[in-house]
Amino acid sequence: MCGISDLAVWYLVLKKGVIVKRCWSSGIIVVFCASVAGFGLKEGAKLTPKQELGKMLFFDTDLSTPVGQACVSCHAREVGFADPEAKLPVSRGVHKDRFGNRNDLPAAYAGFSPRFGYDEDEKLYVGGMFWDGRAADLTEQAKGPFLNPLEMANPSKNAVVDKVSRAEYAGLFKKIYGAKAFADPNRAYDYIADAIAAYEKSYELNRFNSKYDLYLAGKVALSEQELRGLKAFEDEKKGNCAECHPSRRGEDGTPPLFTDFTYDNLGVPKNPENPFYYLPRKFNPTGVDFVDLGLGGVLNKPEENGKFKVPSLRNIALTGPYFHNGVFKTLRQVVVFYNTRDVGPWPEPEVPPNVNKDELGNLGLTEQEIDDIVAFLHTLTDGYDTTTGKSRPGSDVK
Ligand code: HEC
Ligand code: HEC
Repeated sequence: MCGISDLAVWYLVLKKGVIVKRCWSSGIIVVFCASVAGFGLKEGAKLTPKQELGKMLFFDTDLSTPVGQACVSCHAREVGFADPEAKLPVSRGVHKDRFGNRNDLPAAYAGFSPRFGYDEDEKLYVGGMFWDGRAADLTEQAKGPFLNPLEMANPSKNAVVDKVSRAEYAGLFKKIYGAKAFADPNRAYDYIADAIAAYEKSYELNRFNSKYDLYLAGKVALSEQELRGLKAFEDEKKGNCAECHPSRRGEDGTPPLFTDFTYDNLGVPKNPENPFYYLPRKFNPTGVDFVDLGLGGVLNKPEENGKFKVPSLRNIALTGPYFHNGVFKTLRQVVVFYNTRDVGPWPEPEVPPNVNKDELGNLGLTEQEIDDIVAFLHTLTDGYDTTTGKSRPGSDVK
């Protein structure tokens, strides 16, 4: 009943203790699948032919202009499908002197985000792709990077479709989308995105095999420090992190995704080291005065300015630097920022209006509690090996 293809339309929001279950596409309240196995993500599952095709597209370094950059170049398996070039706050394009304006988000677990929409009950925007929700879902997202001049830099959809039609997997493409799959370039481009999205929903990107997952399944114990960290992460009077990054299974056993898919302005400062500031005017007309408005920029609504999507914290120990502009290099800095934003010597927020002053800024955490939360965050890395006690994401997939 709950095949992998259903992932994008199902979601679970845990906000202020309320569990909302919905199907965005139809608005019908539906029963959520009971377990990870219910997602079709169980151990030993095989990729479907469409997912195999999506994988080939995702890994194909010929699909940029000039050739050399694939989706996987910025979304590498060994770092939870995030950018392996961790020294940079943002990602470097196929043109080595070009940079995007934002830190990357992992492609792993992204498919669980509901389609972008407005939740009338909660009066909040929810879901979508990218830090600012500008793509509604995985399929729409996958159409972006190929044509982005700061990323894969192809001149047109046609150019991408032409390359795919000459690739060694073109036969598989036609088998799945029909003999005339390449006849209409617009439609063929949609098929490319469809196949990539199918791969992104596969078990390869959604492993649920971190130490924390095994702990929830009763298979391993957390250390004393990790347990203290989990408690502080959840405690409303301590970190209060789970308010936006839910850490518990759903009532029906659905594993936590560590995001409620909403948007917030945390008062994150500008990152003076962002190379985007120094790009030619053609790519960044405002130079060092560039201000990232996030969701407000997409919707053209000032009351949403400075708000960015709550990211999942799965594999967070591997996906630094942190926040939408990569301003912090370590997880400890992030937690210290939540703890003392309003009482410490921090730079001004990039977008001062709409800053959330209720749930963070002066948490009163001790140094020990900060270390404990960081230790807990390290349990969210995929590929936990019970024999070695180490986590190596992707080590179990070819
Ligand atoms: C040059 C590096 C780069 C390349 C190449 C690239 N991405 Fe990304 N990806 C990023 C960055 C940076 C972001 C965040 C950008 C933003 O939010 O504005 C991102 C965001 C995403 C997201 C959104 C995740 C979420 O939780 O919202 C997905 C999914 C994704 N990329 C998949 C892909 C796919 C599929 C391809 C290939 C077609 C690709 N990326 C190519 C850097 C890259
Ligand atoms: C009010 C909601 C909210 C609360 C409470 C909250 N977060 Fe976040 N978190 C966010 C948002 C929104 C972002 C992205 C902000 C940005 O980049 O501008 C974020 C980003 C992060 C990141 C960086 C993720 C990345 O991929 O760069 C980490 C790590 C993190 N949060 C951990 C925590 C911890 C630990 C706590 C508790 C001390 C916490 N969060 C409490 C909403 C929240």
